[in-house]
Amino acid sequence: MRGKVVVITGATSGIGQVTAETLAGMGARIVQVARDHGRGEDALKRLRTRFPEVAHSIYYADLSRLSEMKRVASELAQAEPHIDVLINNAGAMFGSLHLTEDGLESTFALNHMAYFVLTHGLRERLLGSAPSRVINTASDAHTAASLDFNDLQSLQAFHNSNFLEWMRFGGPGFKVYGRSKLCNILFTRELARRLAGTGVTANCLHPGFVATRFGDQSGGLISFSIRIAKRFALSPEQGAETLVYLASSPEVANVTGQYFDKCRPATPSREAQDDAKARRLWEETARLAQVED
Ligand SMILES: NC(=O)c1ccc[n+]([C@@H]2O[C@H](COP(=O)([O-])OP(=O)(O)OC[C@H]3O[C@@H](n4cnc5c(N)ncnc54)[C@H](OP(=O)(O)O)[C@@H]3O)[C@@H](O)[C@H]2O)c1
Repeated sequence: MRGKVVVITGATSGIGQVTAETLAGMGARIVQVARDHGRGEDALKRLRTRFPEVAHSIYYADLSRLSEMKRVASELAQAEPHIDVLINNAGAMFGSLHLTEDGLESTFALNHMAYFVLTHGLRERLLGSAPSRVINTASDAHTAASLDFNDLQSLQAFHNSNFLEWMRFGGPGFKVYGRSKLCNILFTRELARRLAGTGVTANCLHPGFVATRFGDQSGGLISFSIRIAKRFALSPEQGAETLVYLASSPEVANVTGQYFDKCRPATPSREAQDDAKARRLWEETARLAQVED
């Protein structure tokens, strides 16, 4: 990874933090996108102290807001003429309905829209840097999910949640999160199709169930259940293995459009392999983001 530039979101914590530090240890220059200045400066300081050979940097943006996604993508594109790897990793699960200032459902906005808008904004840089890679952190939480294009942001799912859902999953938040992760896989699939032959690859992954800060802020029963389950979860170091592999291994230099688990290609749900849905999701997302398709 010596001489390579890696742009990564969600590296102030969890698997993103371990991934950034591991890739920096391999010689990469890390360009982070973070939202919280305190955690961002701590993360940057750790990188600069442990791996001082190259000039790691950080940009700030709340990736649940469209204007911020676009602003940071434009700043990055201006400042970084060459990008070898883009890792879309920032994510969260909101237990109840929160709308962003754009009127988007928060889990959908952060977990899906930000991947799309950042990649769109850095597209020319990735193309100009080929061979380059886009890696999207998805999840096996997608397996039970299904998209409804009449309710893409799951507003009805929040309004119509039932008792059984509360008993089994602590409310509708998990279902909505699963849909956002299904979006990650469909987005990766369509991105790979559109980038075919350009030298830019696009893959996604399930990191495993990992003990990070994930779920701490989801609220209510969801946070409680995740906190208990984390006792049996992987460490962030184990959770980062597939991300590091996809960013750095020569074995996957020409692999694109795949979903990985434990550093191996895996088969996602049937719906996650639906090319027509992937195309439609792309078009709907471009419309919501108000960017050219
Ligand atoms: N943990 C698991 O078991 C698991 C399983 C499958 C998939 N995943 C996926 O793995 C990815 C990373 O999660 P993690 O487990 O490492 O969780 P984490 O420790 O909570 O890290 C999440 C990262 O996303 C950032 N983030 C959250 N909201 C943001 C916003 N509005 N704008 C910009 N950045 C924001 C956080 O920044 P702050 O430091 O400011 O909060 C943090 O750096 C997510 O996409 C998640 O869906 C996790």
